[in-house]
Amino acid sequence: MKVRRKKNIAWYPLMAGLALVLSGPYTIVASPATDSPTGDDSKGKKIFARHCAGCHGSQGKGDGYLLLGPDPANLTRPATKKKSDATLLSSIHEGKPNMPSWKNRLSAEESRAVLAYVRTLEK
Ligand code: HEC
Repeated sequence: MKVRRKKNIAWYPLMAGLALVLSGPYTIVASPATDSPTGDDSKGKKIFARHCAGCHGSQGKGDGYLLLGPDPANLTRPATKKKSDATLLSSIHEGKPNMPSWKNRLSAEESRAVLAYVRTLEK
């Protein structure tokens, strides 16, 4: 009994260390999605004009360059408005049919900025 109890106590510092090691990388991986979703929309406006307006139109209404379907989404429509930041950020990151992926061209911060700008278009 006595011996076993000692062994259990000896585990505590080890487990605390393990918990620290495990929590470290998770925080880093989770942060792009979970930290403040509010990007800098004035910065986003420039990114949008340069990279997105050609397809989505300067007002985001989906009236830019039209390919043979699917047409660029009207980013001011209720269907887009209802989607969460995380969903829209992943569409921007991964791309859509007829829309390129932006994850290698826009940083996490730039993606949030452009999304913040897209949110201002909806008002
Ligand atoms: C080559 C044309 C093109 C460019 C450039 C482009 N998009 Fe798109 N985008 C599309 C198309 C087409 C769709 C809709 C695809 C579909 O309906 O499946 C779309 C869909 C989206 C959606 C999903 C909307 C929803 O309701 O789910 C978001 C968000 C979006 N674009 C944002 C952006 C942003 C931000 C940029 C600039 C960084 C950008 N797009 C650049 C063509 C483009």
